[in-house]
Amino acid sequence: MSGTDALLERVRAGGPVPRHVAIIMDGNGRWAKERHLPRTLGHREGMKAVREGVEGAIEAGLEVLTLYAFSEENWNRPPVEIGALMGLLEEYIARETAELRSNGVEVHVLGDLSRLPPPKREAVDKLIAGTRGGTKLHLNLAISYSSRAEIARAARRLAEDVRQGRLALEDVDEEALGQRLYTAGLPDPDLLIRTSGELRISNFLLWQLAYTELYITPVLWPDFSRLHLFEAILDYQKRERRFGRVNA
Ligand code: FPP
Repeated sequence: MSGTDALLERVRAGGPVPRHVAIIMDGNGRWAKERHLPRTLGHREGMKAVREGVEGAIEAGLEVLTLYAFSEENWNRPPVEIGALMGLLEEYIARETAELRSNGVEVHVLGDLSRLPPPKREAVDKLIAGTRGGTKLHLNLAISYSSRAEIARAARRLAEDVRQGRLALEDVDEEALGQRLYTAGLPDPDLLIRTSGELRISNFLLWQLAYTELYITPVLWPDFSRLHLFEAILDYQKRERRFGRVNA
């Protein structure tokens, strides 16, 4: 039995797996720098790791996987790098849509897609339409995503609903706000993985991560494989989640 298979067996025997795992995929640039390669090649290798993460998520039996692919702040990177990332997104969609569909993955996108160049936006729309109905894994790609912007948007939508008389002011509560986030209807992440050792949340799912277990690994994203995902899940299975309460 391979090391990966053995780890997967331990995950399956180790107790409940997290329903929802979110990942901050970090370290592409450093991976490239260590090899004296352009940053864009780091992103290209990162794209391969996305495939690993998705396949590992299916094998482990996760319900939801959320990947931070491009933040709103990333629009401030040099145009060449933005162009490369957008190109990779389009390439990923062209290469992977059929496979995602046959693996039962339904893709959703979190973020402000109005900022995407029209051809990339069309590709994203095709990915969403082409994978609709998948029941094995719900894959969220956060693209042009900012958690503060997401919360502000939800607040605006709440205010509009109150103004239009669709919602009473007394009914503005956590649930009502949660229903207006991109993640409406999904369980909050049980586990957040951040690669490359950085100890930050970086404007990612600030509302949804309230009680999420954190797992920081020094592995750079292009080196991330399903083995690392399984290790993170095993670590999660050892945690005691109290949600602010004391032990029974
Ligand atoms: C962080 O590394 C990574 C990103 C900003 C982009 C993530 C993109 C991918 C994994 C590839 C494309 C993804 C899809 C879904 C097609 P960084 O550049 O901040 O690395 P550094 O901190 O080492 O500089």
